[in-house]
Amino acid sequence: MECVRKLTKDLYWVGADDRRLELFENIHPIPRGVSYNAYVLLDEKTVLFDTADWSVCRQFLENVEAVLAGRPLDYLIVNHVEPDHAASLQEVLIRHPETKVISNEKAFDLMRQFGFSVDDRAEVVAEGDTRKFGKHTIAFVAAPMVHWPEAMVSFDTTTGTLFSADAFGTFGALGGRIFADEVNFERDWLDDARRYYTNIVGKYGAHVMDLLKKASALEIKMICPLHGPVWRKNIPWFLDKYVHWASYEPEEKGVLLVYASMYGNTESAASVFAARLAEKGMSNIHMYDVSKTDTSYLISDAFKYSHIVLASVTYNLNIYPKMMTFLDHMRMLNVQNRYVGIIENGSWACTVGTLMHDYLEDEMKGMTILQDSVTINSSMTKGQNRSMDDMVDALLDSMKEEKK
Ligand code: FEO
Repeated sequence: MECVRKLTKDLYWVGADDRRLELFENIHPIPRGVSYNAYVLLDEKTVLFDTADWSVCRQFLENVEAVLAGRPLDYLIVNHVEPDHAASLQEVLIRHPETKVISNEKAFDLMRQFGFSVDDRAEVVAEGDTRKFGKHTIAFVAAPMVHWPEAMVSFDTTTGTLFSADAFGTFGALGGRIFADEVNFERDWLDDARRYYTNIVGKYGAHVMDLLKKASALEIKMICPLHGPVWRKNIPWFLDKYVHWASYEPEEKGVLLVYASMYGNTESAASVFAARLAEKGMSNIHMYDVSKTDTSYLISDAFKYSHIVLASVTYNLNIYPKMMTFLDHMRMLNVQNRYVGIIENGSWACTVGTLMHDYLEDEMKGMTILQDSVTINSSMTKGQNRSMDDMVDALLDSMKEEKK
């Protein structure tokens, strides 16, 4: 049975939810599921924008056929070839030998690499090209590295609808809702939108800024992403979030406090730090056990908050492995321009503070490490009261500064 939503008088959502997948890209937990969006435009010609993941192929195909209602599918526009959107491409082409595929040269290269037979139907477009399908004219805009090199977005100049590929997407199954104004997005979806963006596209901030610049020249009335709700209201609010994320600007003054503790002593020191910080008026503190928290959530908060405090035990004379994973993901995803405080612990040969300091300074950009750090030997004693208070004060002082 089809499950579609009508977006306008001639545009339909034909995607589907996936609640069975545990890990998006086989790495990021998605407890709320995810949607794979695709859209059908019924003009003088019929146009399908992207396909869907293999897991929802059957539902997606039923949706497409229901909306076409016996009409041929004239065109398939492929904005992004990653298999969560393109895996069902060949199934569409098998059912519709009449369909021409519109995409860019790089995308066709990738389609061939993934084993799709598209050469006899390929219509290559490039940045700035337009195609008229009746009343609707679609312009093609390159969006390289948002999130793969072939990615492009398609803009319906007739209605102001942006088919934005991965941009403006989010984790979360739609559950019948399709518009962002049908849900409480800020309360229920924003955290997953941030986690999606930062972990999937976060590395490519400069490319996202390029796309945002191009988008600012368009009169956008609706955004149709490949994951999550469609935007038809409050678009500038969501664009502003993207500007923060893409430019690595924190959304809030606040502290992400991540600790790595084997027997609770480093955790206890981190708790003392948090309590003293809150006592002095900074209560926007978000504290996580690195061993129990999936890295994707930590990355999301690293983008959100201005300050990061790392409290780690020394492990085999190295950084605790799960803390190292977090640091490595921050590096890979280009987290930058944050203030960082360090609490280190070691019962003998306490090396982790220096190692984390060097990693932050040598491998990442624009990290300002608070000079006052705290060293614990096994467990915190009154002897560390002074250094703990100094680090709290140093962090609060840095909050008065504007990071360049
Ligand atoms: Fe949702 Fe880059 O694919």
